[in-house]
Amino acid sequence: MRAVVYHGPGQKSWEEVPEPVVVDDTDAIVRVDATTICGTDLHILKGDLPDVVDGRILGHEAVGTVESIGAGVKNVAVGDRVLVSCVSACGRCRYCREGAHGQCLGGGGWILGYRIDGTQAEYVRVPFADNSTYPVPAGVSDEQILMLADILPTGYEVGVLNGGVQPGDVVAVVGAGPIGLSAIMGSRLFSPAHVVAIDLADSRLEAAKQFGADVTINNGREDALAIVRELTGGLGADVAIEAVGVPPTFELATQLIRPGGHVANIGVHGQPVTLHLEDLWTRNVTITTGLVDTYSTPTLLRLTKDQQVDVGRFVTHHFTLDQFDEAYDTFSRAADTGALKVVLTREPVPS
Ligand SMILES: NC(=O)c1ccc[n+]([C@@H]2O[C@H](COP(=O)([O-])OP(=O)(O)OC[C@H]3O[C@@H](n4cnc5c(N)ncnc54)[C@H](O)[C@@H]3O)[C@@H](O)[C@H]2O)c1
Ligand SMILES: [Zn+2]
Ligand SMILES: [Zn+2]
Repeated sequence: MRAVVYHGPGQKSWEEVPEPVVVDDTDAIVRVDATTICGTDLHILKGDLPDVVDGRILGHEAVGTVESIGAGVKNVAVGDRVLVSCVSACGRCRYCREGAHGQCLGGGGWILGYRIDGTQAEYVRVPFADNSTYPVPAGVSDEQILMLADILPTGYEVGVLNGGVQPGDVVAVVGAGPIGLSAIMGSRLFSPAHVVAIDLADSRLEAAKQFGADVTINNGREDALAIVRELTGGLGADVAIEAVGVPPTFELATQLIRPGGHVANIGVHGQPVTLHLEDLWTRNVTITTGLVDTYSTPTLLRLTKDQQVDVGRFVTHHFTLDQFDEAYDTFSRAADTGALKVVLTREPVPS
């Protein structure tokens, strides 16, 4: 089969590799029908995640068809159409029993395309298949469901739910990439008074309006703090969601928040950030961090199936699997190409 193989910083290729086989009896082998590229794959290619070894197949998002299963797999059968979640779950450890699969101690967590071979391939081995895949509901497309492998649960759990968004809240989302946009979409489910999107790229702010932001701020030329204060009678936002992962945006999120408010950090930070306790200590704020657990996937599947969220909006570009080079190029130049999510499918998508 062919797969996107990582060969050290800046190097990857779509090349011939052996097909995966069942190793543990809880594994499934899934034929990949649709997959995508995440910002985290770009981090790996930049060399930001040095534990990724030469020869690793990238990718942690897929929708596919079960090709074979180990003897211990009970919930998934050959021929089933499944969502492969970015987070695998042993189902037995303390964290899995609490729904915190991202922290799995039994060999799960975020492993696909990181610690084991991933989904940017014609076939993928999915460990703990019973707990790490979800049946795809009838009537929804592969590419819609693919958005639930990572970005939707991440924005919803680590942003909206950790932030405790309530009806009537003013929610400020710093960063309007796919993750920030999914936090905007998820916040809308709670009837907030305002959703404010803050980004340096006008194209991303345009997208934010489509996803439900009613106020957009380009913080390269506008004063985000002044605008949010004006909108909230001088108090600040009830919830500020950080969806970039650099020091200035985390600091901005902590400035935007009202006393008693919540800052929910989603961004992956590669360097230390200053926590301004000299300003924050009197303000009763709650700050949360998190790696996605995907405990919300069943909820998001129902919302998608019943058309309460329009996840198809994320898909801006289509490719076939053998066009990975072009797809990576388009995705990595998002500011020029307007890419949000690029979808790669086994069969060409009819236009
Ligand atoms: N916690 C988790 O489990 C988890 C899971 C997936 C992704 N992430 C992280 O979430 C973050 C966002 O992911 P994404 O895929 O949307 O990334 P992205 O790069 O597509 O989007 C980031 C956005 O931030 C904007 N931006 C950059 N600097 C800014 C600044 N100073 N002020 C305002 N906006 C700025 C960019 O214009 C861009 O639109 C990344 O750090 C990613 O690694 C975290
Ligand atoms: Zn990801
Ligand atoms: Zn576990």
